[in-house]
Amino acid sequence: MIYLDNNATTKIDPRVLETMMPFLTDNFANAASTHVFGVGANDAVKTARQQIADLIGAEAHEIVFTSGATEAINLAIKGVAEQYQTKGKHIITVQTEHSAVLDVCRYLETKGFDVTYLPVKPDGLIDLEVLKAALRPDTILVSIMAVNNEIGVIQPLKEISEIVRRAGALFMTDGTQAVGKWPLHVDKAGIDLLTLSAHKFYRPKGVGALFVRQRRPNRVKLEALLHGGGHEGGKRSGTLNVTGIVGMGKTAELAQKQLASDAERVGKLRDTLENELLQITGTRINGNRENRLYNVTNVFFEGCDSDALIMGLENIAVSNGSACTSASIDPSHVLMALGMTETEAFSCIRFSLGRFNTVDEIPQVVEAVKKVVGQLRAMSGGF
Ligand SMILES: Cc1ncc(COP(=O)(O)O)c(C=O)c1O
Repeated sequence: MIYLDNNATTKIDPRVLETMMPFLTDNFANAASTHVFGVGANDAVKTARQQIADLIGAEAHEIVFTSGATEAINLAIKGVAEQYQTKGKHIITVQTEHSAVLDVCRYLETKGFDVTYLPVKPDGLIDLEVLKAALRPDTILVSIMAVNNEIGVIQPLKEISEIVRRAGALFMTDGTQAVGKWPLHVDKAGIDLLTLSAHKFYRPKGVGALFVRQRRPNRVKLEALLHGGGHEGGKRSGTLNVTGIVGMGKTAELAQKQLASDAERVGKLRDTLENELLQITGTRINGNRENRLYNVTNVFFEGCDSDALIMGLENIAVSNGSACTSASIDPSHVLMALGMTETEAFSCIRFSLGRFNTVDEIPQVVEAVKKVVGQLRAMSGGF
């Protein structure tokens, strides 16, 4: 298998697995227990919390562990909505957000909140003037993702946060596709709430985190979603997933050390792949190419159905749309927001690369894509 679906999930880094192994076997204690084994588990959680905080420029006590980004997003948006509803009931987000954000917002609309879904420009970036015009005195939260999971475009977080903070609202970023791959610093970018999920950067699924700012300029308060034993400062009850958390800490530490070298190496592979694919007639890249993460390219193949293309590629893992909404038969809401027709949106493939891809794989992928695109076009009588 040639795996080019790293935005869906990533292979675990062997160094992360090695760090986790003792916590899957002998060190199985509950981190809340007061005996010596529990204290050991709690120390391991503390180390991981610090490693994650260091990666994003936060303080350890600002990190709340969750089961992944979807839970972190639910906690952040619903938690803020409930806590600040007496101040206002208006939330702003963007049409190209992940379904975890969009569906939480739609749910809140049924509870009396008012949500503005900002459009994007044809390149996937938001228009800052449109954001300014959407802000209101009753806006309590603006949620805009760092890196888009389908097309990889990076929103101008610092400029956005300046506008949002001037208006007196909180700024939340879904950093699921950014953290661990791109230098995201909560103070430099002016973020109040940041969600992350480490299965997107080389450790197992089922654990994530929410950064909740506890320092100037905003000491963010949250209503909890899960009530129980009062873990995580009462923000998220439930026995901690020590093994997953230890793995997330290690992957954060590795990411900090390797971020620049990963970016350079993977970026070169992506550029080679992209340039080769653009040699095929009837292709183009979706989304802004300058403000884009180095690991992804979303390519339009005129006259090719993306499902047929994926099936034809056999031992190459790529995707159309987001893995999280892949059960849906609707066209990608992200590509539609760029202004594509349904047929165009159904003719696009996302290639997302990662740390474990190699130079040798790229020509194999290019050759396979050329072959399948040729076959599909021949079957449909050309395009
Ligand atoms: C941008 C973005 N946000 C949120 C999620 C949900 O993450 P998780 O699988 O950890 O719930 C994903 C996963 O694809 C994503 O890409």
